Amino acid sequence: MPESDSPVDTTATTVAEIMSTPVVTTGPDATIATAAEQMRHRKVGSVVIVDDGRPIGILTERDLVRIAAAGADASSDPVGEWMTPDPDWVARGASVSDAFMSLAEHGYRHIPVVDDKQLVGIVSMRDLMRIAQIQPAENLAHEIPKGLEGVVVAETVIGDVRGLEGFSHYRQYSAVDLAERRTLEDVWYLMFDRELPTLAERDAFIDEIRPLREIPGDVADALPTLARLGGDAPPLDMLRTTYSLFATSLAFAPSLDVPAAELRQQALRTCAVIPTLLMALYRLRNGREPVAPHPDLSYAANYLYMLTGETPPPEHARAVEQYLISTIDHGFNSSTFTARVITSTGADLGSAIVGAIGALSGPLHGGAPGRALDMLDSIGTLDNAEPWLRDAVARGDRLMGFGHRVYKTDDPRSTMLRGVAERLGGDKVELAKAIEAKAIEVLTELKPGRKLYTNVEFYAGIVMDTCGVPREMFTPTFASSRAIGWCAHVLEQAADNRLIRPSAQYVGPPPPQPVPDPA
Ligand code: CMC
Repeated sequence: MPESDSPVDTTATTVAEIMSTPVVTTGPDATIATAAEQMRHRKVGSVVIVDDGRPIGILTERDLVRIAAAGADASSDPVGEWMTPDPDWVARGASVSDAFMSLAEHGYRHIPVVDDKQLVGIVSMRDLMRIAQIQPAENLAHEIPKGLEGVVVAETVIGDVRGLEGFSHYRQYSAVDLAERRTLEDVWYLMFDRELPTLAERDAFIDEIRPLREIPGDVADALPTLARLGGDAPPLDMLRTTYSLFATSLAFAPSLDVPAAELRQQALRTCAVIPTLLMALYRLRNGREPVAPHPDLSYAANYLYMLTGETPPPEHARAVEQYLISTIDHGFNSSTFTARVITSTGADLGSAIVGAIGALSGPLHGGAPGRALDMLDSIGTLDNAEPWLRDAVARGDRLMGFGHRVYKTDDPRSTMLRGVAERLGGDKVELAKAIEAKAIEVLTELKPGRKLYTNVEFYAGIVMDTCGVPREMFTPTFASSRAIGWCAHVLEQAADNRLIRPSAQYVGPPPPQPVPDPA
């Protein structure tokens, strides 16, 4: 391998001079788990599958992500079923620039090197770039799975989701256990301050956030006008606009310039005021005066109180609280990622939350619970379930409240909320359970292998509906709890920041084309 500080002549250098050898290989009958362990142990990104010394396939780290996402059994599935068969290869005498072109054109990251059909080495895109300094990293962009599925973009100590197991956690605790055993204020404290509070810390925290629920006077004055804007604009859009006004009114400075303690204070104010803004806008929209926050009620009870002006039954407050806790955070979901990207630019916390609200508003993310309940209403009776669901899936529609990017088994939040819905009772629960079972049957039959199960949104709608939350407020309620997760991520990103700035693969007509004169 040539050793030089300056780029090598890529046309004169052969791959034989830079290839890695010996190659990590296995046979087609080895299990995925064995191949993954070989990669981990030898610190390489691929294993070449050989038969009598000839490369007959290749398995890469990217394949492992795909395999995990598909829910394959790594301990028994053979590599031969998942490898890319008949991989392209380069001859050992090929030039480095030819090898690079082959990798870049086909979107490979690794390419076997062959001599007289026998595997003699392997070259990776990373090796070529490092050694020859030939192309910028943008040429790797097309290696990334669409939708960034499975791509790790940051380290976090806030929490994670294990999709194959059906498990999610905040810090070191199961999210569902927290929802079963703790208050929302406790979990909020955990998300911001890394530990569950003692009883004294809980009281001090509640005292700290109580006054922060109030809407600042200037913003409160503007609410009636804001509530009139936009006709039937969804309440989440109203929140996006109004929260932006709130952040501006408090002059949130760029996070890059704000000390950590001040940023935490902004985050607390944000999470405390969002329920008040939401309910004030909702009531004004419906011709009623806003209800001021009740200083003695918990977050969840106060949420319902500001909706109706009446102290809610404790079982309703607790059910909503459990829903809220279970949706505070969920790995690098789209809105959380959005908040972190915006924070990474050094922008203010208000901008990060406005962006996150926008990302959450989409039906593929936070916009589903109202639609899930619409679906139940539209199905109406159990007899109608099967034909309705079949028609919908056959048409290419998505069943709202089913499927998840990460979960390939039951979403633990949906299992918990099914229990909450059963505890609350009500006329919709039994029908919902029967429709859920039918939907899984239909999805399993019509979308085989996709592993589509019930997600958090399906029973969220039932729980909130039973507790008196209007359908149009389902997604805003989700935003209210998720704001705590967003803010925890903003604080974490700001504390150890690097600009998030990925690349894209240009796939348009080859530039530069001559610029035509106007015709
Ligand atoms: N109903 C019917 N088919 C579905 C569904 C569904 N709910 N979800 C996925 N599929 C199919 C999809 O049509 C595709 O089929 P094919 O291979 O034939 O093209 C296949 O499954 C894979 O779909 P995908 O879009 O690549 O999967 P994804 O990981 O990008 O999508 C999802 C995840 C949540 C966007 C999707 O499952 C979905 O649209 N669900 C309905 C909306 C919903 O309930 N959203 C709330 C998500 S949970 C709350 C949150 O985390 O924000």
